[in-house]
Amino acid sequence: MPLISEITKLRATINNWRRQGLRIGFVPTMGNLHAGHLQLVHTARLHCDKVVVSIFVNPLQFDRASDLSAYPRTLTQDCERLAGLADAIFTPTPELMYPEGQQQQTRVIVPGISQVLEGALRPGHFDGVSTVVCKLFNLVQPDVACFGEKDYQQLALIRKMVSDLNMPLDIISQPTVRADSGLALSSRNGYLTTSELAQAPELAATMNALAERITQGERDFATLVNDASARLNGRGFTTDAIDIVDAHTLLPITERTQAVVILMAAFLGKARLIDNRVVSL
Ligand code: PAF
Repeated sequence: MPLISEITKLRATINNWRRQGLRIGFVPTMGNLHAGHLQLVHTARLHCDKVVVSIFVNPLQFDRASDLSAYPRTLTQDCERLAGLADAIFTPTPELMYPEGQQQQTRVIVPGISQVLEGALRPGHFDGVSTVVCKLFNLVQPDVACFGEKDYQQLALIRKMVSDLNMPLDIISQPTVRADSGLALSSRNGYLTTSELAQAPELAATMNALAERITQGERDFATLVNDASARLNGRGFTTDAIDIVDAHTLLPITERTQAVVILMAAFLGKARLIDNRVVSL
């Protein structure tokens, strides 16, 4: 399984596959791979003949330098986990992706969706995501790209970018992969201490309790959010954001809303954990 860190080599590999009429699947990642990522690779494999995984900790999407430098880089273990699953691993450097520096980089900005919710809390984050994903799509030229539903807003952003820019590929999403405790798998779980790891499933439990109340007909969303926030804060978390919005538009709920998404973000120690769940009204 080749480890590719040059654009010319990546293009040669892709062109060779294309000449053979093979379909190419792509899983973009920032490394520190867990079972959720491997599930995405399996899904890509179901739809394609060859699967490329990129591992690139994208500086353009980090709003805090400390978060970027602390992000776990585990290339050796990642390659071991991908052995026999991926056909190529693309590992560019920041210099390869942004040769003129980040300031000079042309940006892809997805209006609306990039500025609300998580985008309002982390200005510029989603511009960094859409820009790097667009560049990676242009480099790999996949037929299919796979993303996890855990990053709900990111998935919606990428779907809109692909649609708005008529990009010739299909986006396939994969339900969040969870530990037996209900905790959503995330590279950021690695920041948790043993005792925090035991507390962490409370995020999903609080979200599920919220979902249950909505299913049973409660519609006072402000109260629901306050209750969930108080529950988390009373159990060792610091709530960052809990939103209940239209699952399709990510905008406030209207009388036309058919399903809502509960978006949870809370700090537990050094880790900022996120989760989400869609509930039909
Ligand atoms: O979800 C991620 O890991 C990243 O945001 C992505 C899509 C690989 C872009 O850097």
